[in-house]
Amino acid sequence: MDTSTRIASNLVLKNPVMSASGTFAYGEEFSEFFDLSILGGVVTKGLSLKPKTGNPTPRIVETPCGMINSIGLENVGIPVFLNEKLSFLKGFDTQIIVNFFGTTEDEYVLAAEALDKDGISALEMNVSCPNVKKGGIEFGRDPDALYSLVKMVRGVLGRPLIVKLSPMVTDITQLALAVQEAKADAITCINTLPAMAIDERFRRPVLGNITGGLSGPAIKPVALKIVWDVSRCVSIPIIASGGIATYRDVIQFILAGASAVEIGCACLRDPFCFIEIIEGIRGYMEEHHIESIAELIGKLETPR
Ligand SMILES: Cc1cc2nc3c(=O)[nH]c(=O)nc-3n(C[C@H](O)[C@H](O)[C@H](O)COP(=O)(O)O)c2cc1C
Repeated sequence: MDTSTRIASNLVLKNPVMSASGTFAYGEEFSEFFDLSILGGVVTKGLSLKPKTGNPTPRIVETPCGMINSIGLENVGIPVFLNEKLSFLKGFDTQIIVNFFGTTEDEYVLAAEALDKDGISALEMNVSCPNVKKGGIEFGRDPDALYSLVKMVRGVLGRPLIVKLSPMVTDITQLALAVQEAKADAITCINTLPAMAIDERFRRPVLGNITGGLSGPAIKPVALKIVWDVSRCVSIPIIASGGIATYRDVIQFILAGASAVEIGCACLRDPFCFIEIIEGIRGYMEEHHIESIAELIGKLETPR
């Protein structure tokens, strides 16, 4: 049985299951629960050229079927990641995908250049964070601006480039096409949806930042529809993100057109969920006599 899946001409994952950016930090804490080598890939917390402190607390709140976060892209910065975190991740037999962001084209380009290092398998460019005023979302909304940004980053980067899109746009397929045209290798859909929570007892917003991004099972149907829409308009691989918590979710996203998936807040509730999900995929393949993941990608049977 072949669970491997291709994300770029020079990037194959041993299975389609990766961590999502921001819910797995730099892998250290989760390595106490399980061997990270079981994963198809680890996607790091989003990194910027300089360290960032993020938004005021409280920064997370549980909601029915999900959670809202307003972390605000807090991270250790690229130099600290390269000097203190990367060597730990290199100790595992898994692909290392580094999520990054900037606030200007120049910052994106400099960050990509700084991260173009041995041991890093690919970069995932975030143009979709709803929790910060300047976190790339202005590029992620405009197909022309996105095309120009991706092209510039592509021009300086030797390794695979994945672009992570926001669901908060009028027509995501236009953005996906711009990303493909600018020669990115793959697209991640989707980041969180803008949301808020209010504590009526104190007449106050729950989050220090007032608003944040919704994730978890509540957004899964939205993500599924977007992956399906995007998969019908681009030919580059799609990585699904949004509410994935079980092997059944993974298979559904693969049928909708995803080549791989990222597990975000599900692993905050159950850090062992990766093991169960990977075993579940194998079980499904065995039961349905599927020899390779590639056979399933985009194979949703729709009524004529
Ligand atoms: C606490 C938290 C922090 C996140 N930080 C980032 C980030 O730094 N960069 C990014 O691209 N996405 C970030 N995300 C979005 C996730 O990677 C993922 O796309 C989103 O949560 C949807 O997946 P899920 O429903 O499985 O959590 C974050 C999400 C959460 C919950």
